Amino acid sequence: MSFKDKINLQQLPKHIAIIMDGNGRWAKQKGKLRTFGHQNGVAAVRDTVEAAAELGINFITLYAFSTENWNRPAFEVNALMELLVSTIHKETKTLMDNDIKLLSIGDIESLPKSCKKQLAETIEKTSGNKRMALVLALSYSSRWEIVNAVKQIAQKVQEGKLKSTDVDDKLIEQHLTTSQITDPELLIRTSGEYRISNFLLWQIAYSELYFTDKLWPDFRREDLYQAIVDFQKRERRFGGVTSVKPQKQHA
Ligand code: IPE
Ligand code: IPE
Ligand code: MG
Repeated sequence: MSFKDKINLQQLPKHIAIIMDGNGRWAKQKGKLRTFGHQNGVAAVRDTVEAAAELGINFITLYAFSTENWNRPAFEVNALMELLVSTIHKETKTLMDNDIKLLSIGDIESLPKSCKKQLAETIEKTSGNKRMALVLALSYSSRWEIVNAVKQIAQKVQEGKLKSTDVDDKLIEQHLTTSQITDPELLIRTSGEYRISNFLLWQIAYSELYFTDKLWPDFRREDLYQAIVDFQKRERRFGGVTSVKPQKQHA
C-alpha cells in the first residue's frame, strides 16, 4: 500500500520546503565524483515536484545552492551552475505542461550571467501558470536575506518613508525574498543530517521538521507521501494548549 492512500487531502500543507542534501555522499558510495550525485539529483527533483503538484500543494521550495556553497571547489560550483542552466532549460516544457510557475529566492545577482538569463526566461515564461509554484533557493541563506531586509528597512527609516515604530513581523516579512510566499508548514531534510544550514530561519518558526536518512538522489514521490503522512499525525499547537473535549460529568 502506498503512503499516498493515507494522506488526508483536506489537510495538505500549502507549502513544503526541502533541503536536498546528500548528493556527494550518494556519488561517493558509487565510487563516482560528487558532480555525478548532483546530476542524479535532478530525477528526484522531477519526481518530487510532479507528485507535489498532483496532490495540490501550492508551493514547493527547494534549497538548491546556499550562500556558503560558493566556498566549494570551483569545479563543483561550475558544474552545479551548468546543471542548473541545462535543467531549467530542459524542464521549462514540463513546467508549462503541468501548469507550474517557477520562482526564485536568494542573491540571484551573484549567479553567473547564463544562469540569470535562463532563470529570468523561465520565470517569465511560466509566470501565468496557476497550479503550483516551484521556488528555487539559489545563492540563498537566511542570514543574507534577513540582513538584506534590515538594510532596506533602515534605508526607508533614514529617508523618512517609515518610522522605527512601524517595524513589526509583517513589515519584516514584506522585506524578505519570500514576501509573496506563505510560510512552509513542513520542512524536509534528506541525508540524515539534523540541521537547518541557514535555510528559511524566519519562515520556519512554526514549521514541522521531518528528517530522513535517504540521500537526495534516492528521494522519490513515495518519500514525499511518507513525510506528509507523518506531518498529518502531528498536533500543531503554536504555543497554545491542546483543545480537550469536556468530559461528561458523572453524577
Ligand atoms: C546537496 O548535496 C546539494 C548541494 C548542497 C548543492 P551535497 O553536495 O551537500 O552532498 P553531501 O551532503 O556532501 O553528501
Ligand atoms: C545545505 O546543504 C544546502 C543545500 C542543500 C543547497 P549543505 O550540504 O551545504 O549543508 P551542510 O554543510 O551539511 O550544513
Ligand atoms: Mg551536504
